[in-house]
Amino acid sequence: MAGITNIGFRRLCREQGGGIYVCEMITTRALVERNPKTLRMIAFGDDENPRSLQLYGTDPEITAAAVRIVVERNLADHIDLNFGCPVPKVTRRGGGAALPWRRRLFARLVRAAVAAAAPSGVPVTVKMRKGIDDDHLTYVEAGLAAQEAGVAAVALHGRTASQRYSGTADWDAIATLKQALDVPVLGNGDIWEADDALRMVAHTGVDGVVIGRGCLGRPWLFADLEAAFNGRPERRLPILGEVAVTMRRHAELLVDQFTAGARSPARGERDGCTDFRKHVAWYLKGFPVGGELRRSLAMIESLAQLDDLLGKLDPAEPFPVTALGQPRGRTNSPGKVSLPEGWLASRDDDTVPEGAEMDDSGG
Ligand SMILES: Cc1cc2nc3c(=O)[nH]c(=O)nc-3n(C[C@H](O)[C@H](O)[C@H](O)COP(=O)(O)O)c2cc1C
Repeated sequence: MAGITNIGFRRLCREQGGGIYVCEMITTRALVERNPKTLRMIAFGDDENPRSLQLYGTDPEITAAAVRIVVERNLADHIDLNFGCPVPKVTRRGGGAALPWRRRLFARLVRAAVAAAAPSGVPVTVKMRKGIDDDHLTYVEAGLAAQEAGVAAVALHGRTASQRYSGTADWDAIATLKQALDVPVLGNGDIWEADDALRMVAHTGVDGVVIGRGCLGRPWLFADLEAAFNGRPERRLPILGEVAVTMRRHAELLVDQFTAGARSPARGERDGCTDFRKHVAWYLKGFPVGGELRRSLAMIESLAQLDDLLGKLDPAEPFPVTALGQPRGRTNSPGKVSLPEGWLASRDDDTVPEGAEMDDSGG
């Protein structure tokens, strides 16, 4: 997840349970142009295995070049291609979730990535949405095309681009895709608790699940998932004192991450703490913590400040069970998808969209 799954957050999650933790998405163009920020973003921990990288591209040649860089420089063990971004500035130019509609371009792009990765044996997977909107669904056709191109798995977020993050994910569509493909299918959308993952598997028959917003402020979800998939009943309901320990660990890992690339340790600490701020509200969701303390926590500049403020929380406060199963993170409303002129009328046009790259993303 863009802006979230950096090296520090991935370590925090790995400390909880097993899984493939995908790095923040990066654009193929930025990689090919050796953008320094991008190169920092694809750093992995020494013990990270597999190193999973998500690429976003719109041009088959640039995507192939980016994949070649990844495999030749041994930068990752797995490459995922993201076709899920619903952001207007991206779809307006034909990128992200708009791209699979142009079926020949989509197939060409996935084939180019798979071919470039093939000599190294690095598996390529695809993540996509159901389509542009309910009248322009692409997922089965795109899934088959990706399979034909040689991907190792296909992940489906059961929403259309026009839904953005609103409403509920369509698990029936995920089941339909699972039925249609021979390669493993991973289901995504609205897994807030470990038991949602079990329900999704039972409902759809998928081979695995992809977690998005459910882990925001709840990295222990991965411990629950590990337990659930191993048939164990335990689920974490951490009291506020335990949440505070996790928050401290998260902030400390971000400080380590930012210090590694910083001009000075003080700068690294400040940048790590700044990156941590966005997580505060997610961690505290549902806990009775006053507005002022929340605001102060969301403005920390140092670990000492964080410790001081965490010390003001009531450690015995029980986990707010009313927050279980509730959406967290983005929950915006649906909207018409911005597309380039004539996009819907010409499915077989495989002209590469211009300017559809972006600095940040979503899926
Ligand atoms: C802040 C944020 C950033 C995201 N960034 C990405 C991304 O870079 N790549 C991607 O494939 N999906 C991204 N997503 C989408 C999620 O991976 C996931 O598909 C979506 O949130 C639906 O799953 P959920 O209902 O479990 O959250 C992002 C979502 C959020 C909320």
